[in-house]
Amino acid sequence: MAGDLKVLVVGGGGREHALAWKLAESPLVARVYCAPGNAGTAREPLVVNVAGLPGGKPLKPGDPEEVLALARHLGADLTVVGPEDPLAAGVADTFAQAGLPLFGPSRAAARLESSKAFAKEFMVRHGVPTARFEVADSPAAALAAVARFGTPVVVKADGLAAGKGVTVAPDRRAAEEAVRAAMEEGAFGEAGRRVVIEECLEGPEVSVLALTDGETVLPFPPAQDHKRVFDGDRGPNTGGMGAYCPAPVLSPDEEDFVMDRVLLPTVGGMAAAGTPYRGVLYAGLMLTRDGPRVLEFNCRFGDPETQVILPLLEDDLAELMLAALGSGAGHGGGGLDRIRARGLRLRPGSAVSVVMASRGYPGPYEAGKPVEGLEVVATRPGIKVFHAGTRIGPNGRTVETAGGRVLNVVAVGATLRDAVRDAYRAVALIHFEGAHYRSDIAARAVADD
Ligand code: AMP
Ligand code: GLY
Repeated sequence: MAGDLKVLVVGGGGREHALAWKLAESPLVARVYCAPGNAGTAREPLVVNVAGLPGGKPLKPGDPEEVLALARHLGADLTVVGPEDPLAAGVADTFAQAGLPLFGPSRAAARLESSKAFAKEFMVRHGVPTARFEVADSPAAALAAVARFGTPVVVKADGLAAGKGVTVAPDRRAAEEAVRAAMEEGAFGEAGRRVVIEECLEGPEVSVLALTDGETVLPFPPAQDHKRVFDGDRGPNTGGMGAYCPAPVLSPDEEDFVMDRVLLPTVGGMAAAGTPYRGVLYAGLMLTRDGPRVLEFNCRFGDPETQVILPLLEDDLAELMLAALGSGAGHGGGGLDRIRARGLRLRPGSAVSVVMASRGYPGPYEAGKPVEGLEVVATRPGIKVFHAGTRIGPNGRTVETAGGRVLNVVAVGATLRDAVRDAYRAVALIHFEGAHYRSDIAARAVADD
């Protein structure tokens, strides 16, 4: 039987489809509104897409007052924000002032993502292992730092740059170009007026996402993203071409290390500073020869990591989120410490997601291509397709492409190898003009198995 909670999910990509799907499964939840959602959320039981504010104005997710107005209009008992911009803009603070529950950190806590200089200085203060760095406020200071570090070196815009603010520069010329683009040409606007110059590390990358109520930390199993567009990690960076979970590249000892040296000191440090971090904390890590190092924090769920983490979660996500907010009383929640004591309930096995993208992505791409095969795939056990850039076609029935990343084809299997096989079998049944995908998602982990 469905519960009585109404949940608003802000966003319209694969991550938000996964969140809406998982929240709709909760026995506490009556309805999930997705703003704006996509063709996948539109077809999900109990999920309703909301195009915008009353009167038809499309929602500006970066405007906290608009998100609050929508939540009030819908009578949302819980609001969950997918992307970082609304959190960095203070949507959690706006909701807190209005007394409405929102899952996600305050503006001050979201600085762990929204300012790389803040995050790096915080990590140094709290002994969190990260690459050596310098913060520069002028091109001259940045170039001097580049000279001190030598190459390769990493140049990062301080602020939010939609995942494009990081340059791994192989030589001095590339580093100088990155500094110039960010600081003089304004390639990232205000976000690049200040830069972080960073030591270049080497090793496999892994993402650890954890729920926290500001004190208790509950990590999900580690996941690995595939950022480059082509097989073998070649070609330009994308928003993520696939992922799998759990990622065996992070050993149990390293998992403990990440908990003790990264997650707990970070959550503890934020609380001690008077800016407690509540929500999901995402640590992007590089596993160097000297141990795990934090490359970045994100203040939100990862995309596409969420699409492989949530299918393995047996627990009720709404209950976990309410517990993280400390507002679970009456809804079966009551603090993450209680859940930590019994442990997260996870399904055995592995999940793999293969992203199907539009021709041209991550460059310019065409939209409006009909997507075929979704009905067939929907009947296959262990397969779930989370939509990213899709919409319902003008006839009101067909699904068509509407973005660069179109679909996340997810398989859950007893082993990683099974999940990979099943995901690619499902991919082979889905068609749209110009579709491309990587054929080596999780291949390295399977080979090492
Ligand atoms: P970030 O947004 O900070 O995670 O950076 C994006 C990507 O740049 C990471 O996923 C890494 O592949 C790469 N990167 C960031 N920092 C470093 C570093 N210090 N050394 C090597 N690669 C890095
Ligand atoms: N998977 C990378 C991110 O969510 O930032």
